[in-house]
Amino acid sequence: MSTQQQPPRSTGAFRTKTVEQSIRDTEEPEHALRKSLSAWDLTVFGVGVIIGTGIFVLTGIAAKENAGPATALSFVAAGIVCALAALCYAEFASTVPVAGSAYTFSYASIGELPAWIIGWDLVLEFALGTAVVAVGWSGYVRALLETNIGLQMPTALSGPDAGGHFDLLAFLLILALTAVLVIGMKLSARITAIVVAIKVTVVLLVIVAGAFFIKAENYTPFIPPAEPQETGSGLTAPLVQVLFGYEPTNFGVMGIFTAASIVFFAFIGFDVVATAAEETRNPQRDMPRGILGSLLICTVLYVAVTLVVTGMQRYTEMSATAPLADAFKAVGQPFFAGAISVGAAVGLITVCMILLLGQTRVFFAMSRDGLLPRFFSITHPKFRTPHRATIVLGVAIAIIAGFTSLQALAALVNIGTLFAFVIVALGVIILRNTRPDLHRAFRTPWVPVLPALSIAASLWLMLNLPAETWLRFAVWMALGVVVYYLYGRSHSRLGKLGKGAEF
Ligand code: ALA
Repeated sequence: MSTQQQPPRSTGAFRTKTVEQSIRDTEEPEHALRKSLSAWDLTVFGVGVIIGTGIFVLTGIAAKENAGPATALSFVAAGIVCALAALCYAEFASTVPVAGSAYTFSYASIGELPAWIIGWDLVLEFALGTAVVAVGWSGYVRALLETNIGLQMPTALSGPDAGGHFDLLAFLLILALTAVLVIGMKLSARITAIVVAIKVTVVLLVIVAGAFFIKAENYTPFIPPAEPQETGSGLTAPLVQVLFGYEPTNFGVMGIFTAASIVFFAFIGFDVVATAAEETRNPQRDMPRGILGSLLICTVLYVAVTLVVTGMQRYTEMSATAPLADAFKAVGQPFFAGAISVGAAVGLITVCMILLLGQTRVFFAMSRDGLLPRFFSITHPKFRTPHRATIVLGVAIAIIAGFTSLQALAALVNIGTLFAFVIVALGVIILRNTRPDLHRAFRTPWVPVLPALSIAASLWLMLNLPAETWLRFAVWMALGVVVYYLYGRSHSRLGKLGKGAEF
């Protein structure tokens, strides 16, 4: 691959950064990350961030309110949307192995403004995702402390979801994880591996032990008959209804898709694997393995867990807060219920940590490009981690988590992620046309048909999200465009290169 200095192809908001330039930037010693991860590390990272609040909490809500036993099919539908996107991510991550995920991909293919927009969007996905999961974790830990030790957190320190003001546990968790990430990748990877092992064991326990308590009658009807949604009006209705006057229902075949747009949260995270490309020893080979491998493992586990728990307990009776543990309580097995709660509380820690990691790496990449202050992308002389971005973001997210109610934010995280999927799929098609010469260690099959399908599938799930989520998303993105024109556009290193300055 040529390492010759190349100016951008265009000088406006759609100027692109060449792939060669992106790779060369990673070689500047001051801004370099340590390359220590293998395919196995990446898969562990993937599973570590994917299995979390989605399966441990949202399965219950989706089954009870939207799809009944057919929630297993919702997981299949959401899994297919993610698999299509993963095939696009894999091509990009193996072609542009640079920190920053969809942000970097868009910079190389579509242009600077779209890249900025996607970076801004990823901030939303990862930062709020971290906060949501920390709040969910805090709920599990409080429940465990209460049931087993009789220790009750004062309500004021239990967060808005529990009727309090500030979620102290969620706040402290994020600060502790920030410290771990500053110290270094390898330490993080080690901690992750242990926690992932516990989490996967718990999930397997649910599947194997739960299988003995399945009652066939709980599966009838497998797809409960459609019922109109009670809240199906105004801004809380899915956008698809607001736009087309189409009546959304709970249950029935359409309920499977409504549930899919919720349980989609359970899959978020495989895209985070792509943000670690630059810290991977052999990204061309290991990135696709890590991304697709972790996604496949999680999809199989999710479908199995959902089939088991909806078979153990009638969907109408499922718990909306701890469905896996409560299914075991319902069949008179409190020991298993306790073990599952402990596993969930431990498992959610890695989800939080890796979302936080993904977030800092995107921020790092944007800062290195000058779109955010360059101060944030100087790596630590000893730990080789972007410690400044990590600390600033960690503290900000800890504060958000302290004051946040997770329900509304989870939908916002979903829309942000699906939007990133659309841009990445578009980017694959564009880069194939603009840079057919690049070596692609992994090629997305059937381009442009598969990326086009990926775009359509992601848009469909987005349309199933509430109109108010779209509104909040639009406000955040509009703010991003303003920040770009006020700061990023004039400070962009690529822009300066276009004017003849040193890149
Ligand atoms: N997929 C992650 C979870 O379910 C974000 O918590």
